[in-house]
Amino acid sequence: MFDWLEYDNIVKEGYREQEKQLSDFLKKFIAKNAQIRELPLFDRPDQETLDRIAAMEIPAKGRDPLVVGEELVNDVFEHAMLLQHPRFYSFVASAVSPYSLAGSILTDIYNIHAGGWELAPCAGLIEEKLVRWMGRCAGYSGENVGGVFLSGGSMANMSAMVAARDSRLAPEEFSRGMVYFSDQTHSSNEKGLRIIGFRKDQVVKIPTDDEFKIRTDLLEAAIRRDLEAGKKPFAVIGNIGTTNTGSIDPLEQLGAIAKKYGLWFHVDGAFGGSILLSPIYRNLAKGVELSDSLSWDTHKWLMQTYSCSTLIVQDKSHLLNSFTEHPEYLADVNSSEHNDSWDLGPEMSRPHRAIKLWYTLQATGTDLLAELIEYSFFNANQVKKELEKLPDWKIISNPSCGTINFRYEPEGLSDEQLNALTDSISKEIIKSGFAYIVTTTLRGMKTLRMCIINANTTEDDIRQTVALLNDIAVQETEKLRRAQTVE
Ligand SMILES: Cc1ncc(COP(=O)(O)O)c(C=O)c1O
Repeated sequence: MFDWLEYDNIVKEGYREQEKQLSDFLKKFIAKNAQIRELPLFDRPDQETLDRIAAMEIPAKGRDPLVVGEELVNDVFEHAMLLQHPRFYSFVASAVSPYSLAGSILTDIYNIHAGGWELAPCAGLIEEKLVRWMGRCAGYSGENVGGVFLSGGSMANMSAMVAARDSRLAPEEFSRGMVYFSDQTHSSNEKGLRIIGFRKDQVVKIPTDDEFKIRTDLLEAAIRRDLEAGKKPFAVIGNIGTTNTGSIDPLEQLGAIAKKYGLWFHVDGAFGGSILLSPIYRNLAKGVELSDSLSWDTHKWLMQTYSCSTLIVQDKSHLLNSFTEHPEYLADVNSSEHNDSWDLGPEMSRPHRAIKLWYTLQATGTDLLAELIEYSFFNANQVKKELEKLPDWKIISNPSCGTINFRYEPEGLSDEQLNALTDSISKEIIKSGFAYIVTTTLRGMKTLRMCIINANTTEDDIRQTVALLNDIAVQETEKLRRAQTVE
């Protein structure tokens, strides 16, 4: 029999213990974060730790929660890659704002349901205001600007394609619908299209130019070819900040093409949307105001904890049309005056992701955040300058959105050897624990990619990182040449 009194005591005791334990964890984390520069980028879990977790069962009787908490910190959290480290230059990773952290903790503590306006009107208002403010940053105007906070760029891109499909195609046309984007566009766009039912042959990847930007002449030719073949072009996707090179597509031209052929124009600004805050760099995204929808992840460049992404649209009626369901059990809580976010996107129960961004923006202000964006552009240029002082380094993609690709190309090595050399430079710098740099492939060429969007990265970090890369490159080349001579 369920003993309610015993249960109530356990819960009360649990909260008493947590009050102390959570505050200890927070203190420990803040102390660690203050020392982050000195820490290795990845303290990998050893085999013993992995074996211990693998052998654990889910117990029928609960264990001491204080021990469970300690285990989680020591075994799990302490052995995760430190993406916030100032010399973590991979993925699209920035430092986390203390205000995002605070907003995130508050969001978890109160655990409000962010599905409907009625459940937390002030939180709903904050989300609505932020969405409209982000829209204004993009140059969206009009009464119908709207959107929704989602878990990440992947969900935002997919949701945009749902709205695009429903606004431009009749259901019987779905199987002939065609979508266009550059060969540098993030894989989440293609994945999202697959999830919502489009085949591979309904996605056209347009080649890019020397700066890894979409070739609009080839785009238009592809649309014409498909129209002649009786297909139904319905959407084009442009980028502010491609993942590989931080490239920004010619959005004005894309907007004009979308208008000419009646296509939905989506901009994947998951990475680079944050440049819209910078008075210096926002011009690079000119034309974004012509788009129908924009994905903008603030967990990338605006220092938010995972997860925090926003899908913003010029006309929210498209989202409402695609995502509204009115089941009987929500009849009493559906708002008559406001849009409920369960009608604007695919999620129903969800955390209130807008709160932490609001906290950050209110506490930090946009000026400082704009400077952070500008600092990233500066840092990527510093990498280029440092590399140019050294022999045999070749810039493969010029700095854009804090991102640069390059590789070491000493004379006399084949393409295959240069690719292998690039791989080994990446492996060795990761092994050193000093910096984290992985490779990507551009036009069949392995390159080292640095994405430097962490506000804590200093010029000294960059100088030391490039110097170490060079030492490693020279050593690895010698090894390669020695191996060649032995053969
Ligand atoms: C340009 C771009 N779009 C979309 C995504 C996917 O975002 P998420 O990982 O938040 O789903 C990424 C991830 O890096 C990205 O760089």
